[in-house]
Amino acid sequence: MKVFITARIPEEVLARITREHSVETYDQDKPIERSRMLEAVQNKDGLLCTITDRIDKEVLERAPGLKVIANNGVGFDHIDIEAASARKIPVTNTPGVLTDETADLTFALMLSNARRIVEGDRMTRTGEFKYWAPLHFLGWKVNGKTLGIVGFGRIGQAVAKRARGFDMKVVYFDSSRLDPSQEKNLNVSFMPFDELLREADFVTLHVSLNPSTRRLMGKREFDIMKPSACLINTSRGPVVDEKALVEALQKGRIGGAGLDVYENEPQLSPGLAELNNVILLPHVGSATIETRTKMASMAADNLLAGLRGERPPNMVNS
Ligand code: DGY
Repeated sequence: MKVFITARIPEEVLARITREHSVETYDQDKPIERSRMLEAVQNKDGLLCTITDRIDKEVLERAPGLKVIANNGVGFDHIDIEAASARKIPVTNTPGVLTDETADLTFALMLSNARRIVEGDRMTRTGEFKYWAPLHFLGWKVNGKTLGIVGFGRIGQAVAKRARGFDMKVVYFDSSRLDPSQEKNLNVSFMPFDELLREADFVTLHVSLNPSTRRLMGKREFDIMKPSACLINTSRGPVVDEKALVEALQKGRIGGAGLDVYENEPQLSPGLAELNNVILLPHVGSATIETRTKMASMAADNLLAGLRGERPPNMVNS
């Protein structure tokens, strides 16, 4: 069968697919141009895409023979699931693959922000580190502080586990609450959203992007947070109203932010890059060799199963 892959993937995974099928690959690291995508999918049976590809009705209409859409990633807000389901096309993702990586990065952002790691590195390199002094370059304690986790699925829970090592008080908000024994095991307690924002020293977002989470954090929410609090976002950029975030940081309404994702990725809202109290990463939550290899391998398993006419292991529109 004919397969289109919209990005470079690890050689060994590509080899597994080419052994069974005729494969066309957009062999680059930058996102494929729309016109090229629309042309390439026309005669394909299988599509392996990434989170930067918009797979909407137009793409699906161009690909009447499509039997499976295998997303090389966990989030699938870039795929029109309703339109794919209407055409009975299974859509798959790679659940669980990046849980630990994203939780690690969340902590890296928290620590870097509180202890001003990036700022300190810049300062040391440029020769501005001239002396040690009792009140020089102070940051904030992480140990023992209150961590507010918004969205308590796999990643949120993995963040909570790490927080235990830092003796943090962990509170969470989610649309569904864990049962008391799970809360006890994880040493966390549920808090209503506004209360969590009021209490937490660090607020970290781990929700998926959908109409109810779009711009979940805006001016109202930043006004509620502590002026010293730090916002971490490793989920999806549009969960945060970025203009309101820049304003809150500029006016000192909140203390800092650590971002791996952006509202109009990869563009940054005006003013964001000029702020010293933010750390900005290029969407690298899952970017370890191990995880990206496993991610591609899971996407290939899903693709190959779909092409065999079997139910792919990780269908999101079952
Ligand atoms: C995902 O998979 O959803 C991440 O954002 C990128 O790996």
